[in-house]
Amino acid sequence: MSIIKMENISYTYDKKKNIISNLSYEFEKGLVYSIVGKSSAGKTTLLSMLSGLAKPTNGEIFYNDLSLSKINQFDYRSKYVGVIFQSYNLLPHLTAEENVILSMDISGKKIENKKQVALELLKSVGLNEDIAKRKILKLSGGEQQRVAIARTLSFDPDVILADEPTGNLDQDTENAIMNIFIDLAKQKNKCVILVTHSPKVASMSDVKYELKKSDIQ
Ligand SMILES: Nc1ncnc2c1ncn2[C@@H]1O[C@H](COP(=O)(O)OP(=O)(O)O)[C@@H](O)[C@H]1O
Ligand SMILES: [Mg+2]
Repeated sequence: MSIIKMENISYTYDKKKNIISNLSYEFEKGLVYSIVGKSSAGKTTLLSMLSGLAKPTNGEIFYNDLSLSKINQFDYRSKYVGVIFQSYNLLPHLTAEENVILSMDISGKKIENKKQVALELLKSVGLNEDIAKRKILKLSGGEQQRVAIARTLSFDPDVILADEPTGNLDQDTENAIMNIFIDLAKQKNKCVILVTHSPKVASMSDVKYELKKSDIQ
């Protein structure tokens, strides 16, 4: 059964520019999906809709068969769906550990011993305690991306959405980050949806959805 289902989705900015037309995709747990397409094809727009930040102009999106329009948006984004933005959106003057703990606080989920859990999550994405105590400003791009993933995992969402998660990373780091996403799908049964223009990321995914020119007006 699919965890997220898009039914005949269209999106129009300012009532004139039809970015996405009549798109129907389904997403299941345990799989890594990549959404590919040229620049300006509407990938980020699509991700915004899947994360509940933007409402489709037409059509409906379902999470576990429940329309997103009927789910509390705060709950959706802080409990069920983790979003990793292109710019990471980490707080630069806080440490990696503090960024993860902050996200736990915001989600409102009851988590015992947050500090310990934060360190374990950071360790699971390959960051040791020394790095965990460092401010974001003092981390490399690849390390920041790992923190962004750990932060998203802090509230154990079913779905992980990421916008160009390897966009600024070298090939080796891209592979390492992709392996984290693949593990999350295969070991933790997460549904991982990646927006990317990297053919490598697409080839490492289970399913590839391509936003084609014909989808754009
Ligand atoms: N807030 C907005 N208002 C109007 N047009 C927008 C807005 N955001 C994006 N667009 C336009 O929508 C198109 C798709 O953008 P986007 O979803 O960011 O594409 P991608 O992520 O595939 O590069 C682009 O032509 C972009 O200029
Ligand atoms: Mg984009």
